[in-house]
Amino acid sequence: MKHALVITALVGVVACGGNEAASASTTGGGAPTDGTPLARFADHDAGTVPGGPGAGARYGIGGGVDRKQLAAMDLDIGADGAELPTGRGTVAQGDALYKAQCAMCHGQKGEGMEPAFPRLLGRDPAAEGFKFATDPKLPHTIGNYWSHATTLFDYIKRAMPHTAPGSLTDDQTYALTAYLLAMDDVIADDATLDAASLRAVKMPYADRYVPDDRRPGPAK
Ligand code: HEC
Repeated sequence: MKHALVITALVGVVACGGNEAASASTTGGGAPTDGTPLARFADHDAGTVPGGPGAGARYGIGGGVDRKQLAAMDLDIGADGAELPTGRGTVAQGDALYKAQCAMCHGQKGEGMEPAFPRLLGRDPAAEGFKFATDPKLPHTIGNYWSHATTLFDYIKRAMPHTAPGSLTDDQTYALTAYLLAMDDVIADDATLDAASLRAVKMPYADRYVPDDRRPGPAK
């Protein structure tokens, strides 16, 4: 009997806790600071939403993600390039790919079509020296602004071409990265890039960037 009472009391506590969690998440109460995970959307009671299907109903949308889908999205290549895939590409191959898949938006010489399509190339002497804080109108290009060559690969592979992101092979992405870096005088015009040689490329203004540990205050 005593045992049954304890269980009833516990159920009461859990029910209250659930309601509090639900109201906190719908009123934007912020993430718990003690490491407790936020309520999962799949468990959300749709009845608490004005105009929803009614109390106790679940939206029933979304689904699981399998490892294959995750692997296709898991492309992050950081500044040190540790995650760079095997493969290789030359400046000449990148030149042909650029003309076929990139120039229609970024221009034949990477001059862009502002404001929609950003300029990629051009080492205008006036824009050298990283003086963007004193003159925000100076054009940002890969050669005068980009911090790490490795993340250029990451960006192109993940996001370009804009109409078909993710469609480029690793070899094509190496080639395009090589072409853009060569056109901005960062590497030689006859260069071939692979994981090791891309990691070794130092961008002209890399030392203007500091790692951000996402904590308030000056970087350590
Ligand atoms: C349909 C138009 C379109 C095509 C084609 C296209 N891009 Fe882009 N690209 C964009 C737009 C728009 C942005 C800006 C995206 C943003 O800021 O969110 C961009 C941004 C970029 C950037 C980042 C520029 C920066 O400094 O912020 C790079 C690098 C780039 N594109 C490379 C390429 C390459 C390489 C190709 C060819 C494989 C390509 N793009 C094809 C539209 C296009």
